[in-house]
Amino acid sequence: MTKMKLRRVGILTGGGDCPGLNAVIRGIAKPAMQYFGATVVGIEDGFEGFVEGRARELSPRDLSGIVNLGGTILGTSNKGNPFQFPVETPSGIEVYDYSEHAIRNYKDWQLDALFAIGGDGTMHIVDKFTELGLNMVGVPKTIDNDLSATDVTFGFDSAVSVATEAIDRLHTTASAHHRVMVLEVMGRYAGWIALHAGLAGGADVILIPEIPFQWSKVYEHVLKRGKRGSRFSIIAVAEGAKPSEGDIVVKETDKKRTDPIRLGGIGEYVGKMIQDNTGLETRVAVLGHVQRGGSPTPHDRVLATRFGSMALQIATEGRFGHMVSLRGDEVTAVPVKEAILKLRTVPIDSQLIVAARSVGTSFGD
Ligand code: F6P
Repeated sequence: MTKMKLRRVGILTGGGDCPGLNAVIRGIAKPAMQYFGATVVGIEDGFEGFVEGRARELSPRDLSGIVNLGGTILGTSNKGNPFQFPVETPSGIEVYDYSEHAIRNYKDWQLDALFAIGGDGTMHIVDKFTELGLNMVGVPKTIDNDLSATDVTFGFDSAVSVATEAIDRLHTTASAHHRVMVLEVMGRYAGWIALHAGLAGGADVILIPEIPFQWSKVYEHVLKRGKRGSRFSIIAVAEGAKPSEGDIVVKETDKKRTDPIRLGGIGEYVGKMIQDNTGLETRVAVLGHVQRGGSPTPHDRVLATRFGSMALQIATEGRFGHMVSLRGDEVTAVPVKEAILKLRTVPIDSQLIVAARSVGTSFGD
């Protein structure tokens, strides 16, 4: 394997923030500075800053005390796809291909490699810039855990732990008031967060996008629990869940975003339908961005550091156009092209689903 000389490397964080981003930045930048004597350029606000030429050199001090810090010291954005860059014009938002601006900045900054830490939107951009000749390495992040080609992404464990704690808290108040409590969690088009948190928190019903639900089955389940003497129910709903005869609930469409659709609202819908159709008093909590904030769990700090370290190794080997990935216990590298082929959703015959069903959880099907 040829060793690349890395004199100047860039790092950016793209898309929604996620606990563990700073641990990755540290995992790349510390060894890059210490062992390779490289200068590390931190690009601000993701691809927006890449196009607009906003960056600063990082110092060892920037990397101190950040392994446990949520958010990203570089800032991020989910609105600056360089290939479809949104620009406000008098006639509305127009999108332009500004990839040449980004390439010019890459050259001006004299980068030998650029690490892009992000979700599927970011990986698509990494793939395109690789084709245009930039030395790109991808690091997968997302609380949604929906990237194929890696068993898990960092951030997911942190989000699940927040969502589980929320279910635990709802349990006590649900039982005190004999209510149905609905918790809407994030996850986009994948049900991983709802499934894991639902299982961990003992939710009675888990609704995920992969299993379209029937209203009658949901009502039946909560009413049956009441008849058996359990006078409360907990329902974990993924934001992308939908009834078999219906569609996902969209909160907003914003053309500036890499993914224009922002989901949200299914929790309220489910709560209202249950109350109206069963007569059971129902309350709804929407966890929202609380799941993405705060400190990463120890698991995510470790995984993120391992991802950062491997990302740097990939770059030193000149394996650009690759993304780091966890396979079993091993951190390895896969071509980005493989990673963007499809979203990783919950297989409906997965052991997790079987286990949940075996303890009496309903998926509303
Ligand atoms: O992809 C991470 C995520 O938190 C999704 O779960 C959610 O649908 C989306 O981002 C929310 O995006 P925003 O932060 O732009 O509201």
